[in-house]
Amino acid sequence: MTLVDQYGRPLLNLRIAITRRCNLRCDYCHREGEECNTHTASEEMTVEEIVRIARIAVELGINRIKLTGGEPLMRRDLCEIVKGIAAIPGVKDLSMTTNGSMLGAQARELRACGLKRVNISLPTLNSEVYHKLTEGRIENVIDGVKAAVEAGFHPVKLNMVILNDINDADVPEMMDFARQTGTILQLIELDPVNVDGSYFAIYHNLLDTHEEVLRQKAVKVETRKFMNNRHIYYLPDVTVEVVHPTENGEFCAHCTRLRVTSDGKLKTCLMRNDKLVDVLTPMRRGASDEELKKLFLRANQMREPYNKIL
Ligand code: 5AD
Ligand code: SF4
Repeated sequence: MTLVDQYGRPLLNLRIAITRRCNLRCDYCHREGEECNTHTASEEMTVEEIVRIARIAVELGINRIKLTGGEPLMRRDLCEIVKGIAAIPGVKDLSMTTNGSMLGAQARELRACGLKRVNISLPTLNSEVYHKLTEGRIENVIDGVKAAVEAGFHPVKLNMVILNDINDADVPEMMDFARQTGTILQLIELDPVNVDGSYFAIYHNLLDTHEEVLRQKAVKVETRKFMNNRHIYYLPDVTVEVVHPTENGEFCAHCTRLRVTSDGKLKTCLMRNDKLVDVLTPMRRGASDEELKKLFLRANQMREPYNKIL
């Protein structure tokens, strides 16, 4: 079975924020759209709670799961979470978005626990710019990328949020790095979520110039329908994906996601906090699987394209 929302969009992906904590402080962090703007620990879901939410989702036809945060590696029990979800019959894809700074030491173990692939946030290769943007050390992330490739994650994607005058000139260098490491580069448009308005006005870049350059160099261009119609540019020796949601109704028209916030609420859209469905509280009060499934159905009914095709 697959759930479909009122706009005909199938529900195929679940993105679970397993913590709000992070060891970095990226200027542009959207904090997965969660309202609370502290980076401190809130009460987190237990391994069992996360795995149960994932199992119910899989029973409803959602077979691709991504762990996010905060930084997922802040949780010491991450491997247990991965193992629990990987063991659910019917899970096709289990991935994680990470800042990569702590991945070097743990990539191999996470792979052994059943994690299939990782997306690593890497806005630049310049150590000073990286430090200024994130407060982190670039060497750790480069170690993380290499360790991820060596551990057999496939594909490893590099998430590069493009910021005017900060890193938009670094794209060729990032493409070289992706080529050398055998990773896929993702150029990501800055989202306004949880970002200061004046920051957004200065640094937001629509990515069209970047796309134009890629189009000219590509031997093949693909549009991936169930990945928000994103464009994938195959250059002779490197692949670059472009994630460009704004002014792009096609992006939302092909959204197949539901999110779970770090405090256990189903969230229908990164951009909205008005339609949250709490699953954790009912679960802690003893709700049955059937009751929890109804909450998923309710959240699915409320899914709605944020940008509409005009
Ligand atoms: N806009 C777009 N992408 C963002 N990310 C973090 N904040 C933003 C934002 N404001 C990216 C990070 C991370 C992924 C989960 O989202 O690079 O890789
Ligand atoms: Fe936010 Fe990710 Fe940066 Fe942490 S690493 S501050 S979660 S964007």
